[in-house]
Amino acid sequence: MQSDKKLFTPGPLTTSMTVKQAMLHDIGSRDTAFINTIADVRSELLRVAGADPQKYETILMQGSGTFGVESVIGSAIPENGRLLVIINGAYGRRIQKIAHILHIPCDTLEYPENQIPDVGDIDQFLQNNPAISHVALIHCETTTGILNPVQAAGHVVASHNRVFIVDAMSSFGAIPISMADSHIHYLISSSNKCIEGVPGFSFIIAERLKLETCRGQARSLSLDLYDQWVGLNKDGQFRFTPPTHGILAFQQALRELEDEGGVNGRGKRYKDNQIRLAEGMRSMGIETYIDENFQSPIITTFLPPDHPRYDFETIYTRLNEKGFVIYPGKLTDRVTFRLGTVGRLYSEDIDALLEAFREVLIELEIIGME
Ligand SMILES: Cc1ncc(COP(=O)(O)O)c(C=O)c1O
Repeated sequence: MQSDKKLFTPGPLTTSMTVKQAMLHDIGSRDTAFINTIADVRSELLRVAGADPQKYETILMQGSGTFGVESVIGSAIPENGRLLVIINGAYGRRIQKIAHILHIPCDTLEYPENQIPDVGDIDQFLQNNPAISHVALIHCETTTGILNPVQAAGHVVASHNRVFIVDAMSSFGAIPISMADSHIHYLISSSNKCIEGVPGFSFIIAERLKLETCRGQARSLSLDLYDQWVGLNKDGQFRFTPPTHGILAFQQALRELEDEGGVNGRGKRYKDNQIRLAEGMRSMGIETYIDENFQSPIITTFLPPDHPRYDFETIYTRLNEKGFVIYPGKLTDRVTFRLGTVGRLYSEDIDALLEAFREVLIELEIIGME
């Protein structure tokens, strides 16, 4: 069998053979073994989050990450509530759009995509706007790879006694984040990010006391966070068809996370990958977009070489032919491209990509041969 191309993307990611093999089973959704797997995955996620099982719950939700975000936004905010979304990229804007579609009153604090939010602004905004009941923030804004100050923001949100929602889609499992220390009431992530499972579902870690207030609030049947939680607790099953294969793969992925040394071990590999990649690209004259102080180990935005022959599609195609998948930029006002350093990628994969990148730039006569 020809080996798969390496995915230098923010997800779906390159996964281990053993994670893929774990899917080679058909299992009934009501089978005791599957119900046990769901329970195991739910409690293991709390462990990864360092969340006290007395206070926090895990809810698994079918669909991609956005479904998880939409289930929280659509279920957590009561009819008389109001949301503040902190935006410095596309995923913050997506939360604003979800609120808009669901007719949830929403304000925003917006920042340029290469800047982190100012926690003082959040403090001031909450001070001046007592109607805000919930605040949403993206941990790692995958648009650029910038890492937002969740803990500092959480302190401010808690000091105003508001509910804090964190989209930790692309960071959970590789960047330490404490629900309690950051005063997070709802955290959302998904199966095909840093845990290195396959796509198919998202998960929400939520404070039980807050979850209990969501009853009857959902603006959707399938994305009702409260009903999904109650259903999972009642008989251990999903309300509707579960992604059985994806959950089997995820259980294996969680074991492999543990084997790698948990969040810290995985985070170290990603960080080493990111540093190696950024240095290698810099040696070809390709600079990073985000200041090093705010750069996450997850994904890096690069400024393309200022050369008339630079064309993302050409480079993408040539690298694809060599077995590497890269990612376009997502900035509103600048041409960039992105490279993910997550998934089953090691230093030798980074070196191989850098080598291939150099070859392509030489082929296109964007850089010369040394
Ligand atoms: C921070 C963040 N939020 C939300 C999403 C949306 O997830 P999905 O594409 O799985 O719906 C992503 C996807 O990369 C993300 O990085």
